[in-house]
Amino acid sequence: MSSFESTVPEELGEPSVRAIEVPEPGAVTIVVPTFNESANIRELLHRITESVPTRLPCEVLFVDDSTDDTPEVISEAARDCPFPVTLLHRDEPTGGLGGAVVEGLKAATSDWIVVMDGDLQHPPSLVPELVGTGERSSAGLVVASRYIKGGSREGLAGGYRIAVSRGATWLTKTLFPRKLRGISDPMSGFFAIRRSAVTAEILQPLGYKILLELAVRSRPRQVTEVPFVFQDRYAGESKSTAQEGFRFLRHLVGLRTASPVARMVVFGLIGATGFVPNLLGLYALTAVGMHYVPAEILANQLGVAWNFLLIEHLLFRERRRHRTWWDRVGRFALIANADLVLRIPLIALLVGEFGMGALTATAVALVTTFVLRFTGTEALVYLPRRTGKSVRGSRGRADRRAA
Ligand code: GDD
Ligand code: MN
Repeated sequence: MSSFESTVPEELGEPSVRAIEVPEPGAVTIVVPTFNESANIRELLHRITESVPTRLPCEVLFVDDSTDDTPEVISEAARDCPFPVTLLHRDEPTGGLGGAVVEGLKAATSDWIVVMDGDLQHPPSLVPELVGTGERSSAGLVVASRYIKGGSREGLAGGYRIAVSRGATWLTKTLFPRKLRGISDPMSGFFAIRRSAVTAEILQPLGYKILLELAVRSRPRQVTEVPFVFQDRYAGESKSTAQEGFRFLRHLVGLRTASPVARMVVFGLIGATGFVPNLLGLYALTAVGMHYVPAEILANQLGVAWNFLLIEHLLFRERRRHRTWWDRVGRFALIANADLVLRIPLIALLVGEFGMGALTATAVALVTTFVLRFTGTEALVYLPRRTGKSVRGSRGRADRRAA
């Protein structure tokens, strides 16, 4: 029986951990992220009790960011459960749903971890099958998929959500054809993963799509799928918003630009879009009678500002903290304008000293200054922060649970 005790002393910024007693670790830790799900907790634990422990020893770990009484409801309901229930409440919901799941992955001690939603859209009865399939096929990751034979997205409410989900799946599979091979439903939030396949240290979760994050960054060696029927929500409302949609796009860009070459391509694409504000600015300024030379210079600053905003928010979002905003703007603008100033003498040098044609010289100068601008921006504005190199295991929260 599990009993609920409170609380391990809270360190600043760390999640608080309740429920200390873990009689025997289960073969599987079911990690359930919750945000204001009080009306679903009892039914969820009830259905887990009905279908899991007799087939597979389990424990349940809630990672909760709620602002309602969900934590109290969990504590209450846990008393009637024949398996250990742990509640990890975060005061600061860093990384949203994905951040919560990663906290759960780090804290889990079982060989297998199943991640599932707390609103019963993911049927608990499938948990033993997910783990069983993984054991039999020696896969590191087993995805519950809506898109293979036997699965369906019945509970996905409305044509709009279906279209968005389809589009997102297609886009994601197109961007990561190799890493997502064998995963028909990378948007699924229901899966089983071996603890040994989790590389929690290198994960940078952002919002909802934690499976995508795991599949792309942790890259478990072997992946299989099990079909499932996405159910209707049992109670309450979805927490997914339009803002989550933007977070998802940012997440995709972050995953896709993990390599320097990919970053340079995106840097170039963003730079190309800068022509639009640049030309519009030039048009507006000359229209009000400004001479074209100062107008060029000012309009160029518009392009620079535009590029800065996009680059800050899409490309180097995670690498901004070591410099103040003013510092970054200043450096960025300096590098961007130096690029312009340098290009002309460089072209002159190539034509005069190396006898190149003007066109070739311009092309060479453009490419050279672009590469310089990219490396300069990366090194002088967004110098990568040091990250730990170790990639194995999951230490940390689990020790505290035993405390
Ligand atoms: N801890 C925590 N923090 N939990 C959260 C947060 C958060 O910020 N946001 C949502 N959750 C929890 C919810 O309480 C629920 O248990 C689960 O995450 C899923 O949230 P829903 O709001 O029900 O999401 P959904 O039904 O729209 O999306 C689900 O289906 C998608 C596929 O269509 C999720 O499973 C997604 O991961 C999945 O991609
Ligand atoms: Mn849901």
